[in-house]
Amino acid sequence: MSTKKLNIVILAAGKGTRMQSFMPKVLHRLAGKTLLQHVIDTAKQLSPNKVVVVYGYGGDAVPKAFKHETVSWVEQKEQLGTGHAVLQAVPHLDDEGATLILLGDVPLLNQRSCLSLLEKTEGLGLLTVKKKNPTGYGRIVRNDQQQILAIVEHKDATESQRAITEVNTGIMAVSNSKLKTWLSKLSNNNAQGENYLTDIVAMAVNDGLKVEAEITHDEASVEGVNSKTDLANLERVYQTRNASVLMQAGATLADPLRIDVRGHLTVGKDVEIDVGCVFEGQVTLADGVKVGPYCVIKDSTIGETSMIEAFTHIDQAHVESNCRVGPYARLRPGAEISDAAHVGNFVEIKNSQVGESSKVNHLSYVGDATIGKNVNIGAGTITCNYDGVNKYRTIIQDDVFIGSDTQLVAPVVIGEGATIAAGSTITKNAPAGQLTFCRAKDQKSIANWKRPIKK
Ligand code: UD1
Ligand code: CA
Repeated sequence: MSTKKLNIVILAAGKGTRMQSFMPKVLHRLAGKTLLQHVIDTAKQLSPNKVVVVYGYGGDAVPKAFKHETVSWVEQKEQLGTGHAVLQAVPHLDDEGATLILLGDVPLLNQRSCLSLLEKTEGLGLLTVKKKNPTGYGRIVRNDQQQILAIVEHKDATESQRAITEVNTGIMAVSNSKLKTWLSKLSNNNAQGENYLTDIVAMAVNDGLKVEAEITHDEASVEGVNSKTDLANLERVYQTRNASVLMQAGATLADPLRIDVRGHLTVGKDVEIDVGCVFEGQVTLADGVKVGPYCVIKDSTIGETSMIEAFTHIDQAHVESNCRVGPYARLRPGAEISDAAHVGNFVEIKNSQVGESSKVNHLSYVGDATIGKNVNIGAGTITCNYDGVNKYRTIIQDDVFIGSDTQLVAPVVIGEGATIAAGSTITKNAPAGQLTFCRAKDQKSIANWKRPIKK
């Protein structure tokens, strides 16, 4: 089967009533990615020649959220059961080859299970799992020779069938020609008045075809999300597994239960990550990087042995090696921090380069600026980059010293080796090597001045 054409149908029409949400269930996120995206990504790893998603509840909201994907969409206007759902996809399916049916709310499904399911099958392959508490699931009914005879839904099952612990995960692989025939014969003559996809099992047996199960031992990988509690549980499973991968790659995690990766984190050797950090998008931490507690780092790279201290927020920025950033620093998109530079507390940097060994240590806003090497930016310095309409650049050349509480009104250039006196508002270019200051002239004192007193 695996060498033939592969179609994949993803069922995603359900409302997910127990989510208590206005949003279709499959748009809820696990590890920063929608449930359906997880399933589509797994599907794509199997190199299918077609992926069909059956949507329903929420109307166009689901396809709209996946404009970036080249999958086919079919609407199931009324949710009349899983069999009815797959039937909607039939016009898209090839005449030959096989179809793998996946569920849009089972996000941690692994590729291996799908592959072995596809390997095993000639007529119909079921992915099953043994559950301590099988309540609610379709039971796998076998004969004395352990051959599968049928799936019986919980609500239709007899007492003795309910004692069966092997259940249907909802994921199956079936040859297209058979699927089309069987679906056309489904009825809703059952406890829920639905078209059960699972009824095709008995039909396969009836046609003398072998129904084979792939029993998975990884329960989480076939767990569906039906509630916020399920979502949180699977999120933890995902994060815990990801934490193990990071530790295998050489990261030291202060607590593997207190790290969240929503995207992909690449770590070098001897990386240390303290508790409560969140990594989003694509983040790379090179060898020896230390990240303090409660940092948020998104789509950024941090160079060798740099230290990111507590409560720092980094988004689309690039930090080179041996830097110290934070605590409480904010690097916004386009911040580029060169080797051995320091960015301290309550400093915001946006679309700017900070040169080698330069320091912006306290309470500053640096936006649209180019800062050279060995520059010291004093506390409370602000680049005034915006006139309400346009943005302008501030250029600070090598070896400049900017005194505290300085405003640099862009566009402005501070020449190499210049010193700007504290408290200056600089509106014109400052020449290299000189001291420039611009303050209110006279410092006065009033001898008998009294503070106002409350009456
Ligand atoms: C189904 C199986 C059951 C299995 C269980 C695993 C049937 C009849 N039963 O149960 O054997 O143990 O899954 O979770 O197949 N969906 C649609 N359209 C519909 C109905 C469902 O797209 O009309 C989608 C849902 O969005 C969901 C999936 O199919 O992703 C499963 O539906 P759900 O109602 O959760 O499963 P059950 O029918 O209870
Ligand atoms: Ca379900």
